[in-house]
Amino acid sequence: MNAKNTDFGTFAQDVMLGLNSNPKTLPSKYFYDAKGDKLFQQIMALPEYYLTQKEYEILEGQHKQILASILGQGQPFNLVELGAGDGMKTKILLRYLVETDVDFTYFPIDFSGSVLEELEQSLGQEMPGLQVKPIQSTYRDSLKNQEWENGLPNLILFLGANLGNFGVDEAKNIINHLRVGTKKGDLVLLGFDLKKDPQTILDAYHDRQGITREFNMNLLERINRELDADFDRESFMHWPTYDPVSGECRSYLVSRKPQQVTIGALNQSFEFEAYESIFTEISKKYSLTEIGSLASSGGFQVEENFLDSEGFFADVLWQKT
Ligand code: AVI
Repeated sequence: MNAKNTDFGTFAQDVMLGLNSNPKTLPSKYFYDAKGDKLFQQIMALPEYYLTQKEYEILEGQHKQILASILGQGQPFNLVELGAGDGMKTKILLRYLVETDVDFTYFPIDFSGSVLEELEQSLGQEMPGLQVKPIQSTYRDSLKNQEWENGLPNLILFLGANLGNFGVDEAKNIINHLRVGTKKGDLVLLGFDLKKDPQTILDAYHDRQGITREFNMNLLERINRELDADFDRESFMHWPTYDPVSGECRSYLVSRKPQQVTIGALNQSFEFEAYESIFTEISKKYSLTEIGSLASSGGFQVEENFLDSEGFFADVLWQKT
C-alpha cells in the first residue's frame, strides 16, 4: 500500500481489491456508468436476450392478477422498486394503477443517478399525476434505511433477474435484508431467470452483435477513463460460461497474452499471464424449487409464481409472514 491509497473512492478500492485477488475479479455493479447504462438498454432489446421480452410478456399479460393482492388490501400503499432501471416493465404496472385511480407512491431505487433522472423525467411526461420519490442507493442500504416506510402496506419490486447478479449466499443475504426491511403482510415481487436449455442461456450472454462484449469491456474502459489505467481492450476477450448444475452463468475477461497493466490512480501495475481471467459477473438461473426454498428460508410465503408461456422466466409474488 502507498500513501495515495488513503483517499481512494470506493471504485478505486474495489478495483484494487479485485485485481489483487487470486483469481482476479471486478464487481459487476461498475458496469453501470452512463455508457454501461446505454449498453444495457441495447442488451435488453437484443433478440438473444430473452429475459426482458419474457418478463414483459408476464407483466403485460398478468398485471391484474399480480396486483390483485395489494389492491385487495383496499388501502393507499407504497410501490418500491429496487433497481428501477429505465422503468420500461414497471410502467405496465404503473399505467394500470393510475387507470384504476388508487392512491399510491412510487419509490424507484437505483445505484445510478443518471438512470433515476431519466426515469423521473419520462414518468413526468407520461403520467403527470403520479407521485414519484426517487432514491439513489444500493439494495442493501435502501432496505436498511426504508425511506418509504410510513405504516402503509408496501409492494416491493425486485424485477429483471437482478437477484441473479449475486451469488447464492449474497442472494440469501439480500432476502434477509428484504425480510428485515418489510413488515408482516408486505408483498414482494421478484424476477428470476429460470434454468433452461444451456445454449439459450449462453446465447443471451454472447450475442451476435457483440453488445454484451462491449458491456463487459466497458469495465476496463471505465478503469482507463476514471483511474488513469492503460488496459488494451483488444488484448482481452469476453468469455461467458454456463454451469447447468449450479445455474450460474459467469462472465470473464480473458487476457489473450502475458501483459502488464498500470493503473495510475492506484500507483500499481498488475501482471496477467496468458489466458488469465478476470471474473466480472454472475447471472444465476434458478429452478422453481430453489426459489421456493429461498422464500421459506427468508420468512416469506409464496403467493403465486407468474411464468411466461415458455416457462423461461418467473415473477414470483411473496408475502411476509
Ligand atoms: C441486470 N442483470 C439482470 C443482467 C443479467 O442478465 O444478469 C445484466 C447483464 N449482463 C449481461 N447481459 C445482461
